[in-house]
Order: sequence, then structure tokens, then C-alpha cells
Amino acid sequence: MDIEFPSEFVWGAATASYQIEGAWNEDGKGQSIWDTFSHTSGKIYNGDTGDTACDHYHLYKKDVALMAELGLHAYRFSTAWTRIFPEGRGKPNRKGRDFYDALIDQLLDQEIDPWLCFYHWDLPQALQDKGGWQNRDMVYWFADYAAFVAEAYGDRVKHFLILNEPNVAALLGHMLGLHAPGKSDFMTFIAASHHFNLATGLVTERLRSLSTEWQLGTVLNLQPVHPEKDTDEDMEAAELFHALMNRNVLDPLLKGQYPNETEAMLSSVVQDDDLRQIAQPLDFLGVNCYTRMLIKSDKKSPFSIAQASPPKGSELTAMNWEVYPKALYESLKNLQENYGNPRVFVTENGAAYKDELNARGEISDTARIRYLERHLEAVKEAMEEGANVSGYFVWSLLDNFEWAEGYAKRFGLIHVDYETQKRTPKQSFSWYQDVIREQGFDRS
Ligand code: FCB
Repeated sequence: MDIEFPSEFVWGAATASYQIEGAWNEDGKGQSIWDTFSHTSGKIYNGDTGDTACDHYHLYKKDVALMAELGLHAYRFSTAWTRIFPEGRGKPNRKGRDFYDALIDQLLDQEIDPWLCFYHWDLPQALQDKGGWQNRDMVYWFADYAAFVAEAYGDRVKHFLILNEPNVAALLGHMLGLHAPGKSDFMTFIAASHHFNLATGLVTERLRSLSTEWQLGTVLNLQPVHPEKDTDEDMEAAELFHALMNRNVLDPLLKGQYPNETEAMLSSVVQDDDLRQIAQPLDFLGVNCYTRMLIKSDKKSPFSIAQASPPKGSELTAMNWEVYPKALYESLKNLQENYGNPRVFVTENGAAYKDELNARGEISDTARIRYLERHLEAVKEAMEEGANVSGYFVWSLLDNFEWAEGYAKRFGLIHVDYETQKRTPKQSFSWYQDVIREQGFDRS
């Protein structure tokens, strides 16, 4: 075996509530900001919504059976806050709570470890109406909800993930208006960024006081940032973007401080004691990484930063993201070298391609397999050089609702026909099955 992983390495796959569940208004579920956003015309490609998505809410048993066939050790999913608290706070909704109880039991029946993320972007609309993440009170509402969920399922769930990619939610949802809640305002972005960090620390502290049994982590999107050209302007823009996207979450969580570049911007929202509150020790960090960010200076863009196109001739996925496996290596090495080598799980990595069923009804997604192989090689290389990586989760188990791109982009190891809800495992599914069974693969 060319690429072999330690026997205790955790192999998983990830999904998120809004992207797969559907049943958007069933059994007492309240409305989330993603329900609102996707129902607003012009926000999502093709007018798609997550109303039905993969109908996982009804088909979860089938999906868990597929996970068992795949041989997953762990399954990362998120709870929809609005199923459990339709209005975000107040009286819990029994049926919503029961759904995750049943899902967790089904997973455990199949010996799949449930990894539960409290928040994968589907904030209750009722809380958005009170200002959402711009409002400092959100931090406390979120901590109450997370504590409730942890207590409800924590007899069986041992791994909790606090937030999914707060840095992306802050930027795309509050500064660029591309994701829910669709805000494009600098101060909203700044406030949301800080409140996400504060929420991470507060939830960690709260959950520690409830149990010492749980492994607590949070999920960050960490893409290395490279300047398009070696000019001072581009290098400065890249440094600033790295501070805004990566260091603005890493530094407070792991070093108890904000980067010099963003400290002044944040001064109106950071209060005494916040940085101590944020820097609670976590058991692990979840790293999501798909590509690198290529940045150029552009005086007309916010912060004078613009994304540059990948170099001519680059291999691209269907998202037009550059295939650049070294990005994952660099993100892992950055944590090793600059942040005390925390325990890390790669909590998302994967690729969208234009998958098509052939005449035999199969999907031969060799480009996805190659993408995954090359990224696992990058993980292995970082580990050989000392990076503290303990597991890897593919994004995603199923094709699903890819946010602003709707159903146009397919990331799954399993193809979903959205008309019939038929699941068809792709070739990458069999490939991953082998990888898990063998704890690695031969370089192709
Ligand atoms: C990440 C998100 C995830 C998915 C992938 C492609 O940023 O966390 O939900 O959409 O991108």
C-alpha cells in the first residue's frame, strides 16, 4: 500500500441539515434563514430551494444503510435548530427532537459514530428578526440551544462540533450577501465574526460544565491564501485576506488575540474579557479545505481585495475551484507550525463534478476519485511531517442542495435523482469503501 493511514484513523463523511433533510415545514419545524433566503426570488440558481432536498428526513434509514455499506466509522451531520426550537428559544418541539434521536439510534445500530454539529448555517428566522449574529445576545441564545442538544443526545453522541465555518458564514452571509441572511454590510460582518468566535468559547465552557465525557471541536474553513503576483499590492491584499478569513478565527480561538490587521476593525464589538472567553481549550479542530484562495489587489472591491482567477490551464472542479491538493497540506502544516499542532480532523474535503449516469445506470466519477486521492496524499504527507491529524470526512455522502448553487453542483459519493429520490452509489463510493477497509490505497 503506497498511502497507508494509522489503524485508529477515523474515516467519515459529512452532510448538513438544510442541504439534505427537506421537510422544511413538517412536524412543527420553524422557518430558518435558509428557508427565507431560498424562497426569495433571485437568490439561488434556478430558483431551487431546500424544501425537499434529499428528503433525508423521511429516508434517513435508507441513508444510514448506505453509510453502513460504505463502512463509515463516523458520520458528521448537523441538527436543524428550527426542528428542535421552532422559534429559536422557548418550548422545544418534541417531534423535531425525536427525529435526531431516531437518526442517532439508527447510526449506533450500525456502529457508526455520530458527530453532531450544532450549527450549519440554518439560523431560526425568529432570531434573525432580532438581529441574528449581529446581535450579541445571539451568543447566549446559541449557548442555550447547544446545551439543550448536548444534554438531549450526549448520552450517545461523544463528538460535538460547535459551528460550521463561521468565517464563511460571516463573509458570504453578512458581507457579500451571497448566502443567508443576505446582508452586505461591513459592521454586520464584523459583529457576526466576533459573535461567532464568542459563541464558540461560551459553548465550550458551558458544555464542559455539563460533562467531561464529550470531545468538543469546531469547524473552520481554512484555505491558504496566495497572492496572484509577487507584487507588494497583491502580497498585502493576500495577507489581509488571510487575516480576515483564517487568522480572524484561528488567532482568537488558539492564541486568545485578534490579528493586528483586524484588531482595530473589531474594537467596537470586542468587550473586556471576550478574548479570554473565546480561547477555551478545544479537544480538536475541524478543518474544511477544498482549494487555495488566489488574491489580488483591487481598489474597487471591499477591503481592496479581489479573488483572482486560477492560473490558465489549471484543472478545475464544477464549482470552478482550482484542484490544488497542496492547499490541504499547507493548512495542516500552518496549524502544526503556527498554532501548537492541535489535534485535527479534516471535517470536509471533496469535489463537485458533472456526474452523469451511463447506459448501465452507473456513474464513473474518476475525476472525483483522483481529487480525493490527491488530497489524502496531501494529508498523509503533512502527517509524516508531524501534523496531528486523526481523521478525514468526505464532503459529501450524498449529492445535495449546494447553497446559492442549488442542485446544480453534485458533491456526493452517492448520486441523488431529485425527481424520484433514488440513490445510486457512484464509483467513488466503492473506491472509498476500499480505502476504509484497507486504511489507505495504492497511488493510481
Ligand atoms: C462548505 C460547506 C458545505 C458545502 C461545501 C461544498 O463551505 O460547509 O456545506 O457546501 O462547502
